[in-house]
Amino acid sequence: MNLPLKAYWDLLARHIYPQKGRFALLTSLLLGSIGLRIVNPQVMRAFIDSALAGGALQALLVNGLAFLGIALVQQAVMIVVTYLGENVAWTATNALRAELARHALSLDMSFHNEHAPGELIERIDGDMTEMAAFFSQFVLNLIGNGLLLVGILAALFIEDWRAGLGFSLYAVVVILVLNRVKDIAVPDQKARRQAEAELFGFVEEQLAGTEDIRANGAVDFSIRELFHRQANIFHHSRRAHFKRWIIENAMGLSMAIGMILAVLSGAWLFVGGAITIGTVYLFVHYINLLEEPIWAMTREIETFQTIGACVERLTEMRRLQPEVRDGRGAILAVRPPGLVFERVSFSYNSGDPVLSDLTFDLAPGRVLGLLGRTGSGKTTLARLVFRLYDPADGRIALGGADLRDLQLEALRRSVAIVTQDVQLFQASLRDNLTFFDRSIPDERILAVLEELGLGDWLRSLPDGLDSYLETGGKGLSAGEAQLVAFTRVFLRDPGLVILDEASSRLDPATEQHLERAVEKLLQGRTAIIIAHRLGTVQRADEIMILEGGRLGEYGERLQLAADPASYFHHLLQTGLEEVLA
Ligand SMILES: Nc1ncnc2c1ncn2[C@@H]1O[C@H](COP(=O)(O)OP(=O)(O)O)[C@@H](O)[C@H]1O
Ligand SMILES: [Mg+2]
Repeated sequence: MNLPLKAYWDLLARHIYPQKGRFALLTSLLLGSIGLRIVNPQVMRAFIDSALAGGALQALLVNGLAFLGIALVQQAVMIVVTYLGENVAWTATNALRAELARHALSLDMSFHNEHAPGELIERIDGDMTEMAAFFSQFVLNLIGNGLLLVGILAALFIEDWRAGLGFSLYAVVVILVLNRVKDIAVPDQKARRQAEAELFGFVEEQLAGTEDIRANGAVDFSIRELFHRQANIFHHSRRAHFKRWIIENAMGLSMAIGMILAVLSGAWLFVGGAITIGTVYLFVHYINLLEEPIWAMTREIETFQTIGACVERLTEMRRLQPEVRDGRGAILAVRPPGLVFERVSFSYNSGDPVLSDLTFDLAPGRVLGLLGRTGSGKTTLARLVFRLYDPADGRIALGGADLRDLQLEALRRSVAIVTQDVQLFQASLRDNLTFFDRSIPDERILAVLEELGLGDWLRSLPDGLDSYLETGGKGLSAGEAQLVAFTRVFLRDPGLVILDEASSRLDPATEQHLERAVEKLLQGRTAIIIAHRLGTVQRADEIMILEGGRLGEYGERLQLAADPASYFHHLLQTGLEEVLA
């Protein structure tokens, strides 16, 4: 994809426009600074010429002070320019970061399945950091240095057209040559980065597998691999360094040649009487000054290419739209709501069907026990109810309203899913329970904890609700984490609860402990209990068994249990674990 210039322009315009005041200031300061850099050597030339001609001390002093003053002012202006430039760039890219993060969060689960968190971080943060360079350096370096280059050459033309022409040619040749050599190190740098990425991947894998590696005596192998990978990095690193050294020296050589040209042509013109010694100094000074814009011109083209890739990815990501759209806002009036599946079919990424032609009707307040082998589509069913995905065919209704008509926020307030993986945040227990909703009063949290039988546990914590939890739930037992999840559900008070193998990781003793909490949780709510163990579905009114995404068996639990021909009856006889594993 080749982006039209308009894409860059839109981006600049959209994010620079809100800062137009600061941007205008930045531009004028930049122009001023360039002007000062070109003018200052002229002051020095006047000083030299007047000193050689035996000028008055007073005039020389004024001249010298002016030179120093201008140099200082110019540096001060440059500081402000750099500050402003970074500021404008970061303001713009931070706005972009926020915009992209919000956009990414609004995208479908299928998007998030395809894009790993690391990749998103790289796009939202990494790419934006590069873009900051676009916003600031585009102005500072490309335009600024371009103008400086033109300014210097113009000043030389004014001094003497032959010098102007000569040095213009010189600048063109140097830029062309540098452009040829500047990329020689790129393949090695890429290879080095790749080798580093491989090393980090390897280290991560090895650290994660420490126990197995030691247990199986693979330590020597690990160390040898580590050595090889580091040797690989070193190999590419050395080549890259060497080539960069060549580039830097090419620049140095060009500058030295420029200096020789300046001195020789200056001497020649001076001997011919065309210019003064001061002007010879001017030539030398200007050639020195040329180094910066020439270098920048060479480098910026490269940055521009990286940024091109960023802008491309950015545009691509912005173009993605969620497929799960907000409904028009039907009201969920019924509480607890009933749940109806009508001939629902679904597949991930248009692959094999995961759910096919699924129909059932769960009346308000009833509890459905959902059984099925791993991979039969139980979790997928829960995701459809939560509208993380939309079914390919058929219709799901909650409380009489089509899911697609409900507003996502209202839907997600009315449905809660508890899985075996309870996500805990590095925050206080209170924030973990309320999801950072500070409007929930402590009394309510305490009441819910008490109701779930967590009162004693809370009192055993050193700081009560202010106790600090670690990520990954370190310090909480699996049972406690589960109860934290239940408390969250209570605080949100949804009408439909889905427990997705919520207690499958707990040992039977802990599970017993949770019984009371589960009972409370189901009171006055419609529920689906997805379970591995038969004990867990004992409180279900209805039983549904999924077989490869199809309805295997569906009916009243007591009826099925009493029917010797039913699969459920068979399961009760044999014990679920063996059959469903
Ligand atoms: N995010 C996903 N992307 C693609 N396929 C998936 C995804 N999640 C689950 N599947 C597939 O869908 C099928 C049903 O999975 P799931 O609903 O998790 O089953 P269960 O919860 O009954 O074990 C499985 O074949 C699984 O591999
Ligand atoms: Mg599952």
